[in-house]
Amino acid sequence: MSPLRLRAMTPGDLDGVLTLELALFGAEAWSREMLAGELSQQPASRYYLVAEDDDGAIVGYAGLLAAGDQADVLTLAVATIRWGQGIGSELLAMLLAEAVRRGCREMFLEVRADNVRAQRLYRRWGFTEIGIRHGYYQPSGTDAVVMRRGLAEPPSSA
Ligand SMILES: CC(C)(COP(=O)(O)OP(=O)(O)OC[C@H]1O[C@@H](n2cnc3c(N)ncnc32)[C@H](O)[C@@H]1OP(=O)(O)O)[C@@H](O)C(=O)NCCC(=O)NCCS
Repeated sequence: MSPLRLRAMTPGDLDGVLTLELALFGAEAWSREMLAGELSQQPASRYYLVAEDDDGAIVGYAGLLAAGDQADVLTLAVATIRWGQGIGSELLAMLLAEAVRRGCREMFLEVRADNVRAQRLYRRWGFTEIGIRHGYYQPSGTDAVVMRRGLAEPPSSA
């Protein structure tokens, strides 16, 4: 396995990120315009990261919204061939640390009700389910599970 570098996402990463986004999220993938719009709000209210192989390939990415007391995980994704290697955990740990650094007190996220793998990752990192948003994901109409974690405790999965 090649070593990884986690760094801030820039507009130059959009091609690599969008390739992964489409492969992982299909019809529900974010558009280039949407992602570029998100990056334009960095660092004021957003924090986007990529995980890059030593050959420069983007194998994961994640995004955070931090506004006042509250933070949201906007996206978290890892290339399928690199699942189970701890990359998702590393990205999530960096989002948690950044939210704490920005003075947020709690962190929220939405995850597809049928995405058991991601829910397991979030639970392992201290998130608990607080509600359901019916038909949140479009066009499929899949429900979202809303999860929350306080940030008073240190950002670790232990
Ligand atoms: C959800 C997702 C981000 C998880 O990424 P990941 O890199 O596979 O996550 P991790 O490797 O940190 O953890 C996944 C599993 O690998 C295991 N793992 C972690 N480090 C490991 C290592 N070094 N060696 C072997 N296994 C390891 C973890 O124990 C975990 O197991 P569990 O799921 O049974 O608890 C990824 O599956 C993904 O991109 N899915 C599609 C997009 C998506 O659903 N995003 C979330 C939207 S809300």
